[in-house]
Amino acid sequence: MRVLVVGAGGREHALALALARSAEVLVTPGNPGMAGAPGTACVPGPPEEVDADLVVVGPEAPLVDGLADRLRARGRLVLGPGADGARLEGSKAWMKELLATAGVPTARHATFEALEPALAHLRSQPPPYVVKTDGLAAGKGVLVTDSLEEAEADLAAKLSGQAFGGAGRRVVLEEGLAGPELSLLALCDGRRALPLVPAQDFKRVGEGGTGPNTGGMGAYSPVPGAGPDVVDEVMDRAVEPLLAELRRRGIDYRGVLYAGLMLTAAGPKVVEFNVRFGDPEAQVVLPRLVPGVDLADLLAQAAAGHLRTEPAWSDQACVTVVLAAAGYPGAPRRGDPITGVEEAGLVEGVQVLHAGTAWDVEGRLVTAGGRVLDVTALGPTLGVARDRAYRAASRINWRGLHFRSDIAKEAAREAVR
Ligand code: AMP
Ligand code: GLY
Repeated sequence: MRVLVVGAGGREHALALALARSAEVLVTPGNPGMAGAPGTACVPGPPEEVDADLVVVGPEAPLVDGLADRLRARGRLVLGPGADGARLEGSKAWMKELLATAGVPTARHATFEALEPALAHLRSQPPPYVVKTDGLAAGKGVLVTDSLEEAEADLAAKLSGQAFGGAGRRVVLEEGLAGPELSLLALCDGRRALPLVPAQDFKRVGEGGTGPNTGGMGAYSPVPGAGPDVVDEVMDRAVEPLLAELRRRGIDYRGVLYAGLMLTAAGPKVVEFNVRFGDPEAQVVLPRLVPGVDLADLLAQAAAGHLRTEPAWSDQACVTVVLAAAGYPGAPRRGDPITGVEEAGLVEGVQVLHAGTAWDVEGRLVTAGGRVLDVTALGPTLGVARDRAYRAASRINWRGLHFRSDIAKEAAREAVR
């Protein structure tokens, strides 16, 4: 089978590696890391013009923009929802309405387009204050704060269009939830949803969950405390009711439903649904498929509307640490030469995935985005996987490189208890 992966980040690199075990892989546009991977080639695109048996769309923006519809109109088999289903991620207000109709447990919310009523609502709520842009913002459109002053300023910046342009002109204010976070990705064929193994992502840029939100600074799997009972509960109470509601509205959802959850004292609650593999969750979930699993076939089954096989998962733990460029999650500095990638890849169990890299005119590997590399390690335990990832990360350098040193730290401790 020939599979086309659409995208250029670490998630797509992880997909390409896992798919290349059983298929010929093309990626558009891809990145320098994938270009060198066995069985994988980067092609210029556009995706509509690449010949492939299956197309897997990585990021949300092209899905929201209807790429899957355009590909299906050309007779292609596609993993990824059409624009109708992708609206789940394209509009938080619509997602919240759907969750309410489907009876999915989630934070209470209210939607605003005008400043005065939004401020009045904010002031009537207890902290923490949660202010979200309605539209796409690459994981950066959410402010969670105990400071009313900060929340008010953020609200004003978003509604005025100053902070996120059009995506921010409608804002969702939410009840603050507390508890550990969990990401559960489910593969859907329109009717049936199959959970993948859970993962945990680290959203804030700084140590101990401080600083602004990012697209994700690291992840690990398995998640202690998220056993089969938690997965069953999330499938029963969130993923399946949502898929049924989509179907009831005539939406044939074939792709990944990504449930972002908070495990609150009152049970798991949905923070958001995304319409694709998580980034960096895919980087720790996909390597845990046992080597014999034919991922290309599995994704093709979902795309064709007939999920039949359940994949087998290894007992290995996986940890990924995101190495970010100077300035991220603000505007990242580009063009800084990167060293040590090969040396890092020599550490046992380690794979260095490229996310925001490029070749410069002198043929050097340089930073070309906010999240630059994902240092991913497998190991017999979370502790070992974590040690390997950090040992490898310490071999890589560029000017302004930063990463969190606490990815999977708590979990590795909990796992040995
Ligand atoms: P989102 O883009 O909606 O996933 O939000 C990004 C991050 O903000 C989440 O992963 C949480 O860490 C945090 N967050 C979002 N909504 C809430 C909420 N209602 N209460 C507390 N934290 C939240
Ligand atoms: N890791 C967060 C996301 O993929 O949206």
